[in-house]
Amino acid sequence: MAVIFNLKFSSILLVLCVLALTNHSHAIDEERKLYIVYMGNLDEKHESPLSHHFNILQEVVDIRQSLVRSYSRSFNGFAAYLTPQEQEKLADHEEVVSVFPAKTFQLQTTRSWDFMGFPENVHRNPMVESDTIIGSFSDKGFGPPPKKWKGACKGGSNFTCNNKLIGARFYDFDSARDVVGHGTHTASTAAGSIVKGASFYGIAEGIARGAVPSSRITAYKVCSESGCSSANILAAFDDAIADGVDLITISIGGNTPEALQIDPIAIGSFHASQKGILVIQSAGNSGSQASVGSVAPWILTVAASTIDRGIVTKVALGNGSILTGKSVNSFKLKGTTFPLVYGKEVRAKLYTCLQNDLVKGKIVLCDRLRGGREAFRAGALGSIGLSEGINNDVSFVVPLSASALTKADFSLVQSYFSSTKAPKVDILPSESIQNLDAPRVTSFSSKGPNSIIPDILKPDVTAPGVEILAAFSPKASPSDDPSDKRSVKYSILSGTSMSCPHVAGAAAYIKSLHPNWSPSAIKSALMTTAWKMNMENNQDAEFAYGSGHIYPVKAVDPGLVYEIMQEDYIKMLCGRLRSDTSTLRKIFGVNVNCSKGFKINPKDLNYPSMTVKISSFKSNQIIPFEEKFIRTVTNVGRANSTYKAKTSVSSDYSINVNPSILTFGELNEKKTFEVTISGKFTGIMISAALEWSDGVHNVRSPIVIYKRNVMEN
Ligand SMILES: *[C@@H]1O[C@H](CO)[C@@H](O)[C@H](O)[C@H]1NC(C)=O
Ligand SMILES: *[C@@H]1O[C@H](CO)[C@@H](O)[C@H](O)[C@H]1NC(C)=O
Ligand SMILES: *[C@@H]1O[C@H](CO)[C@@H](O)[C@H](O)[C@H]1NC(C)=O
Ligand SMILES: *[C@@H]1O[C@H](CO)[C@@H](O)[C@H](O)[C@H]1NC(C)=O
Repeated sequence: MAVIFNLKFSSILLVLCVLALTNHSHAIDEERKLYIVYMGNLDEKHESPLSHHFNILQEVVDIRQSLVRSYSRSFNGFAAYLTPQEQEKLADHEEVVSVFPAKTFQLQTTRSWDFMGFPENVHRNPMVESDTIIGSFSDKGFGPPPKKWKGACKGGSNFTCNNKLIGARFYDFDSARDVVGHGTHTASTAAGSIVKGASFYGIAEGIARGAVPSSRITAYKVCSESGCSSANILAAFDDAIADGVDLITISIGGNTPEALQIDPIAIGSFHASQKGILVIQSAGNSGSQASVGSVAPWILTVAASTIDRGIVTKVALGNGSILTGKSVNSFKLKGTTFPLVYGKEVRAKLYTCLQNDLVKGKIVLCDRLRGGREAFRAGALGSIGLSEGINNDVSFVVPLSASALTKADFSLVQSYFSSTKAPKVDILPSESIQNLDAPRVTSFSSKGPNSIIPDILKPDVTAPGVEILAAFSPKASPSDDPSDKRSVKYSILSGTSMSCPHVAGAAAYIKSLHPNWSPSAIKSALMTTAWKMNMENNQDAEFAYGSGHIYPVKAVDPGLVYEIMQEDYIKMLCGRLRSDTSTLRKIFGVNVNCSKGFKINPKDLNYPSMTVKISSFKSNQIIPFEEKFIRTVTNVGRANSTYKAKTSVSSDYSINVNPSILTFGELNEKKTFEVTISGKFTGIMISAALEWSDGVHNVRSPIVIYKRNVMEN
């Protein structure tokens, strides 16, 4: 097969978010707060947007240093310190579309690629992959950056780029150097070079590699120790879009869902999407229902699930019982058993902290997980903690020999402690086990439904986000404890931050084989080919995993895709916000007239999943319902193909697909169909599915109908 691809196609971006240990203070009086003054699309009229921003600002503010950041490469606006009065005046300015307070977002960490059936020897297009800009960041064998790259290496002190890591920018700090490890880890997960024999002190040993080892990376550092300011996030989007990246992966989010018009990631990614750049974002680590913080339909939102390799740390009691806890513990204690003391009994008088001389050489039992860090600082030998989550389903790197136990196991240690004269325990180094129920969405992964646009299912997909081994910054503490002075090249992290770059890597892989696919086509391919997850293991079902677990090898040949044009998003916003031209202009800087015919209901957006929230009834009634969805698929499989609709069957509902057979005669041909689901509600949520199949491709969409009170139950 002759492979002819457009080699001008270039770059993948990784937004790296890393914490800086420096503190940047602004010489601004306290009455002023940081606001984003958003001005929509770039205005060609003004040759120097920066001086234009100064001029607008000076109409209401008298100090020049109030301006913190000017956005002028991909969209228009600035960030400035303002008093409430100044903020009001600016909001009334004719060129200003909205003013909203800057807020702080949070960072949300090898085996994972093989687990999802994406082996190293997969069919690749190395020429294009290498022109794809996304770490283990050696540039051996890499040529110069692709021609389309318009970015720069402005990493500041102690930061150098190469032909792998081709660009860097930082905002507010001294350097783009990663001192926390989060950015290095996420970047290498997406696009790290292949490293054999990588491990964290022998734990999880194997080959560490990104999805697309020959892609390039560019890093935008937007976080400080206090979080990631929306002013910096918007600046990074402004730069990344102009720099010519192909994909943006952003493992950052708020703790609660925000309206689109004040969510800088929704706004920045809308502009990215306009330029054909797919943005992949972590769902969040809040865990609970309706907490998913990534809600915009133009973003690909990623939940976190387990892989088949788990990491456990055993605790051996002096009486012979062995308990299995969770942690990433690299320490081997010298000896066999050690005295166990109870944290609350060895506290210094008047203080809540542990008394050093009472814990030396001992293992401390702590009612809280956090107690482990205190035990570490007090010089204890080890600690046994009570897991604070409902499920003890994730292991974190610990700075001393430690293990977290479930409530049941913890009580057992408590009773052993109180019934034994000289209680002794041992904590063993971590070992790998097989997770037979993987993939299971973790307790910390934020769940749907989407509280901002209820008829768009979020998260979209799930991917490995638990106990992931990837590259780490040797400048950072592996346990995130400044007194833990270990320096490692690889570490094990967990979070939706870690699942997000897995999907970015998979998307880069698809893009390398289909350079001309739109962001929505790539997203659709990942969603409709995803593994169907086991509902028994995941009680929140689609609200936990969306369409399912990504399957990159299938996603490169999805057969059909659900494409969404930028105009469709705007129509949806018109329908959703019941808004007029000016509201929409305010939010996304687009000039449209939301008149009749330029509106669609969110449920009718051509989304690869189908969801509707049924409102206005009480909790325990049995309610008849009937809902329709209209969708259009584009043939990207075989020119001549016939797809038949298959639907899931249940006594609670019936699904009618019209037409139920789609016959295509050429590539890129589009066919529209209507799905009607009707039945009676008995519970709070109905999980159904539609699958188009031509015998080769299976194009699956979950259908979720839920009641208003899904969160109240
Ligand atoms: C750069 O490296 C030098 C030497 O290791 C160090 O003293 C300095 O603090 C570093 N600067 C930054 C911004 O990390
Ligand atoms: C060890 O002690 C615990 C708590 O008293 C008890 O539940 C357990 O059965 C004991 N194990 C053995 C092997 O005796
Ligand atoms: C929007 O379009 C409608 C129908 O074409 C027209 O009547 C209306 O004046 C337009 N509104 C604006 C604000 O342009
Ligand atoms: C598809 O079918 C049509 C009509 O049968 C035929 O003319 C055409 O060559 C076929 N195309 C391919 C790519 O097989």
